[in-house]
Amino acid sequence: MPVDRIHWDDLPLDARRAMEEQTGLIHHAETVAGGRNSGIAVTAHTAGPAQFVKGIPLDHPQARTQQREAAVNPYLPPSCPRLLWRVQTAGWDLLGYEYLVGRHADYSPDSGDLPLLAQALTELQNTPCPNLNDLKIAEDRWSKYAGPAGIEQLAGDTLLHTDLAPHNLLINDRAHLIDWAWPTRGAAWIDPAVLILRLMEAGHTAKDADAWAREHVPSWAAAPHASVAAFSEANARVWDEIARHDSADWKKHMARNAHDWVTYWRTQAL
Ligand SMILES: Nc1ncnc2c1ncn2[C@@H]1O[C@H](COP(=O)(O)OP(=O)(O)O)[C@@H](O)[C@H]1O
Ligand SMILES: [Mg+2]
Repeated sequence: MPVDRIHWDDLPLDARRAMEEQTGLIHHAETVAGGRNSGIAVTAHTAGPAQFVKGIPLDHPQARTQQREAAVNPYLPPSCPRLLWRVQTAGWDLLGYEYLVGRHADYSPDSGDLPLLAQALTELQNTPCPNLNDLKIAEDRWSKYAGPAGIEQLAGDTLLHTDLAPHNLLINDRAHLIDWAWPTRGAAWIDPAVLILRLMEAGHTAKDADAWAREHVPSWAAAPHASVAAFSEANARVWDEIARHDSADWKKHMARNAHDWVTYWRTQAL
């Protein structure tokens, strides 16, 4: 369910004051352009370093995503921005992060960001998965879409991001994975499988995206064909559902990519 985004000035005064107890006096706070799920997302300028603050109303159905995001933060690879504080007050759950100067990633076929993306994903895949109740479990998360047969193939011990869209990576001299709303424990190849659909969204063919991942992500090169098939079909159903609930063009496009990918992958078994 989308969250209506409000600006800093629209936050209840008590919430703003509670934030300033953490950040110091905020001279001004500008709403960031990217991102889709936070009720508020601002760069807070203070006498010290800027901070990135995101928040969601405590009673919103997606408030759980912020709990997960806060819980997993201490375990993320060093390139991920650190969570500095969390306050829950005046109806809001607010997270304050170190601010990264960077831009969203460009996944197009000739982009110079692709090596940085590979590096960030490798770093993540080598990160131990914490033992946290807040993590989603891959086989639970997709079971409704995959059906019982084969769902155990999604199990694994890797910490997964699962929403590797270009606006969830900030690029400067390296790539930083942000927006950890859906941290999941599962098979390592699930993240490259998710990423491939985003590469297709940016103009790669299914074959090229597959070849790129095979070359740069060891877990993808080692992924069992049947397991990827089971996940890909489940993920296509997820995108169908997303596109059914909201017919935004990019969602329809992603659902189409997911189906094209399933078709391509089937041909790889022949
Ligand atoms: N630590 C950070 N430093 C600077 N900008 C950030 C930071 N984290 C997020 N952003 C910017 O804010 C946008 C929204 O943040 P994100 O965590 O993705 O929230 P949402 O859940 O709304 O998608 C990002 O796409 C990025 O442009
Ligand atoms: Mg985001």
